[in-house]
Amino acid sequence: MRRKPVELLVAEGGQGEGGSLRRSLGMWQLTMISIGATLGTGIFVVLGESVPKAGPAVTLSFVLAGLTALFSALSYAELAGSIPVAGSSYSYAYATMGELVAWVCGWCLVLEYGVSVAAVAVGWGEYLNELLDGTIGVTIPAVLSSAPGEGGVINLPGLIVVLLAMVFLLGGAKESARVNTIMVIVKIAALVLFCAIGFMGFKSGNYSDFMPLGTAGVSAAAASLFFSYIGFDAASTAGEEAKNPQRDLPRAIMLSLIIVTALYVLVAAVAVGAWNWADFEGSEATLAAIMNDVSGQSFWGTLLAAGAVISIASVVLTVLYGQTRVLFAMSRDGLVPKAFGKVSKKTGTPRVNTVIVSLFCAALASVIPLGKLVDATSIGTLFAFGLVNIAVIVLRRTRPDMPRTFRVPLGWLFPVLGFAFCAYNMFSLDSITWVVFGVWMAVGLVFYFVYGMSRSRLASAEK
Ligand code: ALA
Repeated sequence: MRRKPVELLVAEGGQGEGGSLRRSLGMWQLTMISIGATLGTGIFVVLGESVPKAGPAVTLSFVLAGLTALFSALSYAELAGSIPVAGSSYSYAYATMGELVAWVCGWCLVLEYGVSVAAVAVGWGEYLNELLDGTIGVTIPAVLSSAPGEGGVINLPGLIVVLLAMVFLLGGAKESARVNTIMVIVKIAALVLFCAIGFMGFKSGNYSDFMPLGTAGVSAAAASLFFSYIGFDAASTAGEEAKNPQRDLPRAIMLSLIIVTALYVLVAAVAVGAWNWADFEGSEATLAAIMNDVSGQSFWGTLLAAGAVISIASVVLTVLYGQTRVLFAMSRDGLVPKAFGKVSKKTGTPRVNTVIVSLFCAALASVIPLGKLVDATSIGTLFAFGLVNIAVIVLRRTRPDMPRTFRVPLGWLFPVLGFAFCAYNMFSLDSITWVVFGVWMAVGLVFYFVYGMSRSRLASAEK
């Protein structure tokens, strides 16, 4: 139940083992980090897998998942503005609900960030193959581009994209943010292009059977599509590298979510207008396939595949960044080994941490199938978001006068709704995902009781 005072969390901001992180990121770059981390596999790959569950009503599923994200984003904005530290929701939980809950939250963030990097990297391979096929007429054989259990031995593209992101991150936060900004512009352009071409094939008849599988289908698709919103909180992990975090973090979080939601609903509406919902079953690189179909030329699909390859790579880059920063904060608190908190004097970044996290994610991406990873990621993220909503309510009670640069309007209403939506979405996920989640939590708790509890810096300070 040990809590870390907000003032201490903020005062320690930036400090690592042997050096400090550099404050180099402005509001624009923070927004790009959040969009970079959010827009990717969800819209390019998971949309195609979700249409058979909900039919054209997948557009509603996006809105439903977006609402869950929106309520939680408001809570993130309030907390990121008042506790702008790299640990994000882990640190908010530490300040409000104590060390054990904070650990559980941090452990869920490993699902949100670390495991989702792997899931995203797997989706990258699908579009890479589409691109190679459209340009040089070859594809990487399944044995080298799929996980064991899905007809392959190793997912080489997944492995490569994670290692590439690692190289950029080792160069520095500012440099990575610059590369990310270019990639984000490319991905928004790719989706706008999809809408323009896809709209030409729009058939209103495709909407006639709007909700073929009922509301249950819409909820099930929303739970899977929640994956596409994961990442809007990534800016909050940059709190110790932002130039003016109190002012910029809340803005970056809200702005990125608004841009992303608008794009998602538009792309989904165009996609189910262009193809009959039943045709999505079993399709790969779906958006590119729709472009090819509508235009009658493979050029456009190839161009979109190129956009997707760049887009998804930026998710890998920014989400990997987020994971390293959360572990950085946890290490400073003594809950994970010190190696994660070492800062390189040359680049002002946690380099050892970056290498360890990247190798872990690369290993996961190369051997675990995408579907299995997506839902595990969603359940962990929903749990962490649920805790952030509670943290807002707790902090309003315990520290009502604390300065807040952003305040969620209408009192507790939105945090309560945010929590309820997270719980609803969690319960819409299947039982296997719950089993995976239970096992994950059990492993995390064992780690805490064996390692973190006794090494916690707050515990040592109390002795
Ligand atoms: N939201 C991220 C994506 O869709 C994880 O790729």
